[in-house]
Amino acid sequence: MIRNFYPPYLRQLFTNRRRELDFLQSLVDDLLAGRPRRLAVWGLRRVGKTLVLQEEIARLHHQGLVFPVYMDFEDICTSPELFAQRYIGLVTFWTLDDGQGEVDAYLTVERLLEATAGRSAAASQTAGSLLRELSRAKPDQALLLKLAFEYPEKLAQEVNRKMILFLDEFTEIGTLGHYPQVREPLKHFRAALASQTHVAYVVAGSAMTAMMKLFQSSDAPLFLQFETLSLEPFGRQDAEVLMRKLGSEHAPEVYAEVYRYTAGFPFYITALMQRLDRLQQSGEEINAETVRYAFLLETLWRGGQIYNYCRYVYDLSLQRARGYGMLKAILQFLADEQGFTLTEIARALRKTPSAVRDYLRWLSEVDLVEERDHIYQFRDAVLRFWVAYASKGIEMDAFPRREDLAGLVADLEERFQRTAGELGRAKEAEVRELMRRFSGQVIPGALFGQEGSLILPTVHAVDGYRSPDGQIELDAVAELTPDPTRPGSQRWVVSIKWRNKRAGKKELEQLARQASDLNAQGWIIARDGFTPDAVNYARFAGILISSSEDLNQLSKLLK
Ligand SMILES: Nc1ncnc2c1ncn2[C@@H]1O[C@H](COP(=O)(O)OP(=O)(O)OP(=O)(O)O)[C@@H](O)[C@H]1O
Ligand SMILES: [Mg+2]
Repeated sequence: MIRNFYPPYLRQLFTNRRRELDFLQSLVDDLLAGRPRRLAVWGLRRVGKTLVLQEEIARLHHQGLVFPVYMDFEDICTSPELFAQRYIGLVTFWTLDDGQGEVDAYLTVERLLEATAGRSAAASQTAGSLLRELSRAKPDQALLLKLAFEYPEKLAQEVNRKMILFLDEFTEIGTLGHYPQVREPLKHFRAALASQTHVAYVVAGSAMTAMMKLFQSSDAPLFLQFETLSLEPFGRQDAEVLMRKLGSEHAPEVYAEVYRYTAGFPFYITALMQRLDRLQQSGEEINAETVRYAFLLETLWRGGQIYNYCRYVYDLSLQRARGYGMLKAILQFLADEQGFTLTEIARALRKTPSAVRDYLRWLSEVDLVEERDHIYQFRDAVLRFWVAYASKGIEMDAFPRREDLAGLVADLEERFQRTAGELGRAKEAEVRELMRRFSGQVIPGALFGQEGSLILPTVHAVDGYRSPDGQIELDAVAELTPDPTRPGSQRWVVSIKWRNKRAGKKELEQLARQASDLNAQGWIIARDGFTPDAVNYARFAGILISSSEDLNQLSKLLK
């Protein structure tokens, strides 16, 4: 099964994700030491969530210390009756048969009873109870879920080995909530988790906003029950490592150009490199120009992988929507121009801001659009490009030749000038990466607006943070390794201002408030530096300040 589940050719391409795999390893270590933890992994579609889980499962399989169990909730969350059978069946399959062989022998309760007879008391008992309940005229659906969610712990205790459940597309569990007897499936899940000592959980989901709601909003059943980890696109170096695995050696400008259009998304990199490979085989010379041609081809031709993916995401996101026409109009507008404020969008579409706000909220909920500092824009630059063309009906049925696309190249380049918002986001990822290298180095205080020198803390985890109501947004929150010789704050909170404007006192005051709420050291980074007022206030409030030049220096020092 492991081979079918994660074929060797895919594994050879696996790149990067050291941080995530280290994190997962620490989860395994803690589980083995009797401290089961739970983790929620989220990230945009196709950013590589499933692949990280698969890689980790392959490693666990090889180590043989704990049982990994993988299931995709998209496949199994239909009715509570089917769900319970499959959940129990899959846990059994991965545990008793190591995920090898015929999974079908486990997926209905009758076959499960047969397959486990004489092999496991826990499995037979649970399958027995399940069968009894399912044979009733009207099964108790809440009980079915309870049987399912409590089962992994029972089985793990019996086989006397720890277990990690990897639940992919976890937000699909919501489907079970449509059954009146179940109503809140997460409450059942949570109740079962409370007493488990042998099972750790890693859940993943591509509905980002929905995932955040499940784990970070204070009225959600799983609030504070899971640690969180967000998966980001690759940085320049890792992107290049992946590109090299996917084709023959190319000139540096080729890699730079691929990175420019894919922004480090491994799926886009893969699609584009495969296209380049095919073009090369048909005799084309590969240079930056060819990359642009290949990108246009992939994105606008109906046979392109990127085209099909964008079409899928777009249709899927909009299919359940009311006000379909209006949503399309907003997306077209945002695809053609840079980010806009609510008022600007409303004016352009001749609607009231309050009407438009509802639509924008909906588009944010399905992750198509994001709002930062009151500016709305696409989350994904490639999708934005696709929408701009597809909405004008520019799609190609026949395989386009180079000449057919030549006229679009100038437009392509213009559209991929990064917007301020996108640059800011890239910067945030860069700063988080930099902070992961903080480990007690001594550096000139001037880089943080301080006198003398400064000892950096040792950082053990960094992530962005946004409260579900959108009220608090921090570009990086770094958890520090406690140092008894240096008492003080447990974390740093960071705000990054990437605009054509010096940061003022107001912005520092806001960060100072958030830092004090979180008992943290505040650090603010502004591309164009700070007003004199802000500099004074920083000293008074003990906030660290850096300009983009400071950041470059710091980055060099920590290399
Ligand atoms: N670490 C990686 N190394 C190499 N390629 C990767 C990596 N991560 C993702 N990819 C490429 O991107 C594709 C999509 O990855 P994956 O299916 O894991 O994403 P996902 O986040 O689970 O997507 P979805 O939201 O659709 O479930 C993979 O098939 C692979 O081609
Ligand atoms: Mg996936």
